[in-house]
Parts: sequence; structure tokens; C-alpha cells
Amino acid sequence: MDGAHVRTAPYFVRHSFSPSPLRRMSDADSPAPMLSPDREDGTIEDFTRIEDLADHVDETVTLKGWLHNQRGSGGIKFLILRDGSGFVQCVVPQDAVDADSWAVADDVRQEAALEITGSVSADERAPGGYELQVDAVERIGESGDYPVTPKEHGIDFLMEHRHLWLRSESQWAVMRIRNRIETAIHEFFQERGFLQTDAPILTGNAVEGTSTLFDLDYFDDESAYLTQSGQLHGEAMAMAYGKVYTFGPTFRAEKSATRRHLTEFWMIEPEMAFYDLEMNAQLAEDFVAHIVQAVLEDCEEELEALDRDTSALEQVETPFPRISYDEAVELLRSDETAEMIDERIEALNEEKAELLEEKEENQTRRGQAKKHVKRKIDAREIEINKRVDEIEEALRNLPDWKESAQTFEWGSDFGGDDETVLTWHFDRPVIVHRFPAEIKAFYMKRDPDDDRLAMGIDVLAPEGYGEIIGGGERATDLDFLKEQIEAHDLPEDVFDWYLDLRKFGSVPHSGFGLGLERTVSWITGRDHVRETIPFPRTIARLHP
Ligand code: 4AD
Ligand code: MG
Repeated sequence: MDGAHVRTAPYFVRHSFSPSPLRRMSDADSPAPMLSPDREDGTIEDFTRIEDLADHVDETVTLKGWLHNQRGSGGIKFLILRDGSGFVQCVVPQDAVDADSWAVADDVRQEAALEITGSVSADERAPGGYELQVDAVERIGESGDYPVTPKEHGIDFLMEHRHLWLRSESQWAVMRIRNRIETAIHEFFQERGFLQTDAPILTGNAVEGTSTLFDLDYFDDESAYLTQSGQLHGEAMAMAYGKVYTFGPTFRAEKSATRRHLTEFWMIEPEMAFYDLEMNAQLAEDFVAHIVQAVLEDCEEELEALDRDTSALEQVETPFPRISYDEAVELLRSDETAEMIDERIEALNEEKAELLEEKEENQTRRGQAKKHVKRKIDAREIEINKRVDEIEEALRNLPDWKESAQTFEWGSDFGGDDETVLTWHFDRPVIVHRFPAEIKAFYMKRDPDDDRLAMGIDVLAPEGYGEIIGGGERATDLDFLKEQIEAHDLPEDVFDWYLDLRKFGSVPHSGFGLGLERTVSWITGRDHVRETIPFPRTIARLHP
């Protein structure tokens, strides 16, 4: 066993900076030292984590976790244990364990909590590459009729059971990748001399227009909002500290129930003094490439668990293509786009026909098949049905998307579907720049060569995912900003502090915001952002 300190009671820490030992709660009035403070290897845990099994081949270890799945017959059981760090198959032959252990192994329910001791063997065929030859099994916590079984559930059922669904292998993989993306974000900025600064969540001003504000009663009838973006405060902090980034929750009362919209999401917003639009774009592309690289390097197992085709992610190298809004509009309306959509429709029809043919053949075969072949055929049928549903949905949508692209009018904002179509033209993220000022926020700098345009950039993720980053160069002229605040129907008095930034050492500056959930959704290949945050909040969901 690792660092085997047996702990028997809750403890509290004495308020002291000396490395004195902890005391037992029950011994509070006679402070006797307990557990030796001289942990040689710094270990806290008295068990091994599944992700560390590679360091313990041919050793005996104790694992603690939950039963993910099981199979077996007669005198042998195969228990798949999960502990949050990974999954491992534990082999329990009846004649190798005592009667109590066998009784637990033989009658264990999905998600029961277990402590399993055994020796680690390396086995290339085993999922994860290691297996445990079990000596003893102990039950820590019972489980009942666990509602989320490995069979297919509808999305509404899964969302209702989100607190349990999180334990599934796919959600384990998504959250591990989300975690890696978060650490990659900090690495990226910390290595480049950025200061992490936190913007307030309760604010007195709108950032991204007033139509998506969540408001709440503050004291003395003052109105307050949940922030839509940390940007404006980020600008103040950039003037104080040069290069900063915020990493926090942001809120939008979005009435749109799409696969890209949450009402609460996490945004990472760098803001840099003395950066122009091109420097901003370069930072954005380096940033996205760094995140993707980190996941490719460190999350191989998780990407595989999600069946994510990584070849598209491997293309994500800088520089990213850049197209102006004008060029994007032209591309949407082009014959090339129309043909591309027609080809997609054709390919999907073909794929659907092939899948239905395979399904029919399988059904004919199923009659005489052996039990294990029947199981395989049934599993494949679930897959086929799922893919056919997806294809049918796409076939319903594509004609509308084509229509929307062909008739797109200069001056409108791209809808999610227009973005999707645009991304099909590129093998990596594409940067769209210089948008009509009308569709952008009040703080955007105007293009000195064309006053109709705002110096904004959006980064669209490939494979149809669309916008993951929005940002731009900020307006610095005091009078221009005052005009814009008025033109956008915003109250000037709550922006007084923001206007101060243009009175005292105003400098060119830029920044952007990356939506964490949209980024996770793209990298993990999930088709909806609701699977990329532990407890999603949408127009229709505040529970669990
Ligand atoms: O494009 P947005 O609205 O830009 C801003 O808020 C700027 N103030 C950021 C800045 O320049 N500092 O939002 C930025 C990103 C989007 O590209 C998208 O990835 C994400 O935030 N986002 C959402 N993600 C999930 N649900 C929503 N409702 C989102 N709205 C925006
Ligand atoms: Mg945007």
C-alpha cells in the first residue's frame, strides 16, 4: 500500500505555522500528538489512483472507486472499476479470494463503492493497458437500481440525471479535457507575462448590449446586472498592468435555444495595452493552437474514449487564414458554397442508404446468430440509428442553410448556420475581421480606411463549430465613445469610470474573449455545449 497511514477520525488543524502534528478531535482538551508528521514521500492517500498504475506493475496496490461495469460467469468476475482518474479491469477468480470478497464481487451493483486490493499486471489488450489480479474486495457503499445504465438514454433523461451522468466514461473524458484546456490557458498567458486579474461579476453596466442582461435588485433600488463580459474592467486593468487576462463566469439572458448558447458560461479575456488588431489576431491564433496542442499531447486516452477523430485537430497550426467580413459574405454567396452544400447532401444520402442496407443485412443474419454475435448486431444497430437520425436532421437543414448563405445580405450578422457553412471552406480555424459597425458593440474602434467597419475579429472553429472567439481593437477617442454610448442607448453615467481610461494616458489596445464551453465542444467533438460544463444553465434548465 502507498503511504499507509490509517485514519480513523476527523481532524482539525491547529492554528499554527510550525509543523506541529495534528490533533485528534476527541483529544481536543489534552492535545496529544497523533499521526507522525514525518511523511517521507509527502503522500496523503493510503490508496493508489488508477492513472498511476503504470508505476506499480507487479506490485500489490489498493484501489478505491466505484463499479463502472461488470461481466463474468461461474467462478470468475471481471469488475471495471472507475475512480475518477481512469478505468481498470479487476479480475476476480473465486478460488483466489476469500469467501467475503467473493460474496461482494458476485453480487455487486453498478456504482457501488469498492475497495479492491490486488497485483497490477501490464496487458496490452486490457482497456487502459493494465489489469488488476484481485486478492480482496470490500464494499464501501451500496448501490441501488442505478438509473443511468450503459444502454442508450435520451438526452432529456440524461440532463435530468446530470449529477449521475457525470460519472459516465464520455463525461469523464470531456471534463478531463476541459481541465486540460483550463490549465493550458493559464500556462499560455503566464508564460507570456500576462497578469491574471479578476473582473467583477456584479456590475452596474452592460457590455454586450442590453438585450441579454440578467438584472437583479441591488440595495436602495439600484439596478445591478450579472456581467456579460469582463472586458471593460479588463481594459482598466490593462492600463494598470499592461497585459492581463480574466477567467470567469459570464452571463447572457439568451433567448436562443441553440447548441452554442448557455445562459452561464466561462470566458477567458486577455486585454493588452499597445496591441493593434493584427497583434491581437496573432495572439488569438497562438492561443488556440497552444490549447489544441496541449490536449493532443496529454489527453490521448480521453480523445479516444470520445471517438474524436484527431486528424482535424492536428491541422490546427498557425498562421490561421484571415478573411474580411466582405470576403466572408462573398464566399457565402458564391457558387462554390452552393456546390459544396449540394455535394454534402449527396454524400449524406449515399451514407444513409449504405447504413440502412447494412442494418437490413444484420437483421437477416441475426436470426441464426450466436448470442454474442446478436449482442454485437444490437450494439451496431443503436449506432446506425443514431447516425441515421443525425443524417436526417442534416438533410432537413442543409437546404435552408444553402438558401440563407445564397441570400445573405451585407450588413447582417452571421447566424450559427452561416458560420458553420463558412468553416467548411477551411481545414483549420479562420479569422474573420472588420465587421459592419452596426452589428458590433459600442467600444469597437472604427477602420480608419472605411468608417462603416468596426475593427473586430472573430475566430471560427473548423468542422462546422463556428465562433469561439470574439474581440477587437478598442476605440480610444473620448468624444467618439461618448457618441457611441448615446447611439447605443446606454446610460453615460455608469460609464464614467470607463471614459476616464481615455482621459488619462489613453493608448491603442486590444483584446478578445474565448468561450470555454464552445472551445471544449469543438475539441471534444460534442455537438452541443450542454455536455461541456458540469451543470449547464440554459433557457430551459436550472436543475440539477
Ligand atoms: O463575442 P462575445 O459576445 O464577445 C465579448 O463578450 C467581448 N466583450 C469579449 C472581449 O473582447 N473581451 O463573446 C465572446 C465569446 C464568443 O466568441 C463565444 O465563444 C462565447 O464568448 N459566448 C458564449 N458561449 C456560450 N453561450 C453563450 N450564450 C455565449 N455568448 C458568447
Ligand atoms: Mg461574438
